Amino acid sequence: MITLPGLIDPHVHFREPGAVHKEDWDSGTFAALAGGFTMVLAMPNTQPPIFDASSLDLALQAARSKARCDYAQFLGAGPANAEIVAELAPRAAALKMYLDATYGELRLDDMGLWAPHFTKYPREFPIVVHAESRSMAAAILFAALYDRPVHIAHISLKEEILLIKAAKEKGIKVTCEVTPHHLFLSSPASDAKNTLKINGRLEVRPPLASKTDVEALWENLTVIDCIATDHAPHTLAEKVSAKPPPGFPGLETCLPLMLTAVNHQRLTLDDLIQKMHANPRRIFNLPDQPDTWIEVDQNEEYTLSASTQYTRCGWTPFEGWKVKGRLHKVVLRGKTAFEDGKVLAEKGSGINVR
Ligand code: NCD
Ligand code: ZN
Ligand code: ZN
Repeated sequence: MITLPGLIDPHVHFREPGAVHKEDWDSGTFAALAGGFTMVLAMPNTQPPIFDASSLDLALQAARSKARCDYAQFLGAGPANAEIVAELAPRAAALKMYLDATYGELRLDDMGLWAPHFTKYPREFPIVVHAESRSMAAAILFAALYDRPVHIAHISLKEEILLIKAAKEKGIKVTCEVTPHHLFLSSPASDAKNTLKINGRLEVRPPLASKTDVEALWENLTVIDCIATDHAPHTLAEKVSAKPPPGFPGLETCLPLMLTAVNHQRLTLDDLIQKMHANPRRIFNLPDQPDTWIEVDQNEEYTLSASTQYTRCGWTPFEGWKVKGRLHKVVLRGKTAFEDGKVLAEKGSGINVR
């Protein structure tokens, strides 16, 4: 059994307010602890979106009464709220800007709407962007022009990781995260021999990429600052419907998948600690969690299955995957929060780190 610091996930969707049949602050933080995460940063694309004082209060009220692990809530950038969110910044994880189409209403299609946020949002927090391909290049240019930190969410392409590498070499304040699904899954459509039509379950933004893209991410692991789950729960019924919403659950499969990669020597245990604890803490200016750690058995093998998960969405894209490395215990601020499959932390015991 080895001990690691409490993991920090800088990218989760808890669906409260608005769609608690998918997940809420209780089930989401339950899943977080069962995945070894002691701190999570929640995205603002809820219903309503979190983009002003009253919607922030709504999310934080739910979190205060329900969260079982520590947390902070993102604010969403809208067309006319740059001053409002800048003022609320000390109460939020950071600012999220949606520059491409994805799930939810928040979107800033018009590039003219970006500048007010880049000038006004306090520089001690990053601006996190959902920006794919060329929009990502534009976001990096904004980081350079306004000389402020920008964190690129869920990168998936070879062209993206190579551009981020070049931008970092120039001293531009850009950091990035990658999800386990973009590291372990590729698009069936990209495989010439595979005639399978992409089914609704595989819908995700950014889409699963080609094997060449996946390889490029692994080859440039040093450029990747964080592993973030982008835990985006939608129910199985929704995923297999005529209009499947994009998104995969990820909180309970991330650590075992990454420990398996450590076992296969694709990265070191220290890389894992940097990308799942130290770097998210530094990038988002997060406080220390005293007396907090997790215990894992690096050699235990088991099979991932939705039937043993706590997320409300009821499925996983990694169903049946054999993994090596299992979480046994989570201690959060001196108290056992999870042990041998059971979450012990109480509802409302999580604290807002902002
Ligand atoms: C996310 C969701 O469902 O909220 N979906 C996804 O496919 N990643 C939104 C997002 O992170 O873009
Ligand atoms: Zn996104
Ligand atoms: Zn997301």
